[in-house]
Amino acid sequence: MNSIARSKNVDIFDPTPLLSNRVQKYAPGAIRRLLPLESLPGMISLVAGKPNPEVFPFEKITLSLKGSNEEIILTREDGLVDGLQYGLPGGNPELVRWFEGFQSELHGIDRNQGWSCCIGNGSQELLHRTFQVLTDPGDPVLIETPAYPGVVGFLQAEDYKLVQAKTDRHGLEPSKLEKSLSQWPEDLPLPKLLYTIPTGSNPTGRSCPEWRKIEILRLAKRYNFMILEDDAYYFLNFENEPQGKPRSYLALEQEVNGETGRVVRFDSMSKIVSAGMRLGVLTGPLPIVKNVIKLTENINLQPSSTTQILALSLFRHWGHTGFLDHCARASDFYRRKRDVFAAAAEMHLKYRATWDLPTAGLFFWLTLTLPPGGDTFELLSKKGMERGLLAIPGVAFMPDNRKTYQLRASFSLVTEEQAYEACRRIAQLVDDAWGDWVREFVPGRVDRKGLSNPTTTVLA
Ligand SMILES: Cc1ncc(COP(=O)(O)O)c(C=O)c1O
Repeated sequence: MNSIARSKNVDIFDPTPLLSNRVQKYAPGAIRRLLPLESLPGMISLVAGKPNPEVFPFEKITLSLKGSNEEIILTREDGLVDGLQYGLPGGNPELVRWFEGFQSELHGIDRNQGWSCCIGNGSQELLHRTFQVLTDPGDPVLIETPAYPGVVGFLQAEDYKLVQAKTDRHGLEPSKLEKSLSQWPEDLPLPKLLYTIPTGSNPTGRSCPEWRKIEILRLAKRYNFMILEDDAYYFLNFENEPQGKPRSYLALEQEVNGETGRVVRFDSMSKIVSAGMRLGVLTGPLPIVKNVIKLTENINLQPSSTTQILALSLFRHWGHTGFLDHCARASDFYRRKRDVFAAAAEMHLKYRATWDLPTAGLFFWLTLTLPPGGDTFELLSKKGMERGLLAIPGVAFMPDNRKTYQLRASFSLVTEEQAYEACRRIAQLVDDAWGDWVREFVPGRVDRKGLSNPTTTVLA
């Protein structure tokens, strides 16, 4: 039974009936739920086992920004103590407010429509929490395939029924999704959520156009499921024109469905600010945010205060515009790397592989031209080490562990020279596979040397 509330003439879907059994077994943390009350005027708090900051050895933290002479200095009087102390499970309230303002502006969503943000140690933690909030082990889940292994891993470990939502070169295919939902087995409960990576998917580098998002949003309403929008590569978009950048599910929901509340969005600061800081943001309906926070306070208490205070200082210094300018520079940087890798692939992999140019993100998804029955897992494990090449075989992205002709190549760190050399080695692997196949199936008829590239060298 769905429950719908109205705010300023907008229907707000309440996902509470979709919550998992396991999350309902958790009580709010006995200590942390009292912490917000500490800031009430006149309150004397004997609540938390907070250490006294007097004993912390830090006097100040100075951040020097690249390409600028400006420094951000955090002193004990100005922010540092908060950054060294325990904080709230949902994140530093000022950082949360900063992100709420940012999301509201970026995605055009009204501040008072039943949503908020919370912070996590990377979007990975928030994704895991949200799955726990909405599902129980063994539940059916719609998962965009090829799928991000960081999610497949914990879902497989808990015996979820992973129903693959198929993709083509433009991301998720709504017609296939609809078919799958309309033919859903009678003995299986309908899925409570769809997990998708709409921009620069990991592993395919493909992005989902707006019209497909619209159809998928309609399906979410029709079949009563939530959309987990994992947009880890949203800020690394290579489409130059604003009209080339599709709006997010979060941005489209109200216009498409006449209601909000089914989209939970995940943003990651890893690819643009620092992966080591571990900073992710969830934006979603209040009942989901509240329950994610409830799990955090019971499991690992909170995201890192130090990371959050550093990020808050940086974001205040930048403002929304400065943040987006930085993202635009990062996108330019990776666009150039993508183009170098594409040129290298064109030179060495024509006829030996096919691929689409990634529109965002960090990855090429190469389909190797392998002999029948070929498998990149076998090829990379047997010959990859020999040839000096590491890449992720396609099977890692397949919830059903099937053999594939694909591999994921990350272009983020390699130099131009390494990109060309890597593609040359991939070409050698393809030749190796055909050489082995010919030796096995056409004994004595073809000389292996005739198939491999005699000019290639094996580097250590
Ligand atoms: C699609 C996707 N989602 C989530 C994550 C996790 O990101 P974070 O570093 O914010 O935990 C990654 C990391 O590579 C990713 O590729």
